[in-house]
Amino acid sequence: MKDKKVLLTGGTGGLGKGILPSVIAQGGLITIPYREERDAKSVRQMLTQKELEQVILVKADLTEESSVSQIVKDMGRVEVLIHLVGGFDMGDTHEYSLEDWQKIFSINLLTTFLTCKHCLQSMREYNYGRIVTIGSRGAVDPEPKLAAYSAAKAGVVALTQAIAKETKEFNITANTVLPSVIDTPANREAMGEENAQKWVKPASLAQVICFLASEAAKDVSGAAIPVYGSA
Ligand SMILES: NC(=O)c1ccc[n+]([C@@H]2O[C@H](COP(=O)([O-])OP(=O)(O)OC[C@H]3O[C@@H](n4cnc5c(N)ncnc54)[C@H](OP(=O)(O)O)[C@@H]3O)[C@@H](O)[C@H]2O)c1
Repeated sequence: MKDKKVLLTGGTGGLGKGILPSVIAQGGLITIPYREERDAKSVRQMLTQKELEQVILVKADLTEESSVSQIVKDMGRVEVLIHLVGGFDMGDTHEYSLEDWQKIFSINLLTTFLTCKHCLQSMREYNYGRIVTIGSRGAVDPEPKLAAYSAAKAGVVALTQAIAKETKEFNITANTVLPSVIDTPANREAMGEENAQKWVKPASLAQVICFLASEAAKDVSGAAIPVYGSA
């Protein structure tokens, strides 16, 4: 990823902050959208002055097409998209509200569509691109109470695989990573630390994501890769 222009969405989240050091170490020139100033500040605080030279933070809501298109325009060119934006929710289907259903599809699937769409325009123009999206184990192995989340993440997998086929003639790849529970501070807070040993470490996901985002992964496209740790 050396000197490649990287759009890292969800870079202010638990996984995003966990993989950011690896993306920086690979030499990417990274744009990170954020919504709240405090989140941008916390990313700036975790980086050294030198690392900050590789990172630009821009305020944007990725459910709005105009914001996504503006980011891509401002970047000039996008060579790598690592789309981590997503959100989790639980609830039995028979009492799940339409509003929550639309919200979970919006944050997981709509943002993936919009970022892929606009990044692809740039990638096709320059005949180079690496797209890595984030599904979830639930996309291929749904559990009770996770219908909306699993269906939205299954949509992310299908969208990514369709893109992989659409871009066969280009030097563009599109792959999805399917984590099980990730060892993030939010998960430790929500579920306790008892089983944290079994959860996937962000550093481990970073290895997979950075490989898929690299020039070296040119022959891997359309994959949905399980990264389950020992859970
Ligand atoms: N954590 C897990 O155990 C786990 C397991 C499997 C898959 N995943 C997937 O992995 C990805 C990252 O998870 P995570 O744990 O890092 O989640 P997270 O901490 O909630 O981070 C999500 C990120 O997405 C951003 N975001 C949400 N909506 C946005 C919008 N409309 N526009 C711009 N940014 C937006 C959030 O910013 P705000 O703070 O502004 O909302 C945050 O930076 C997600 O797609 C998740 O579904 C997570």
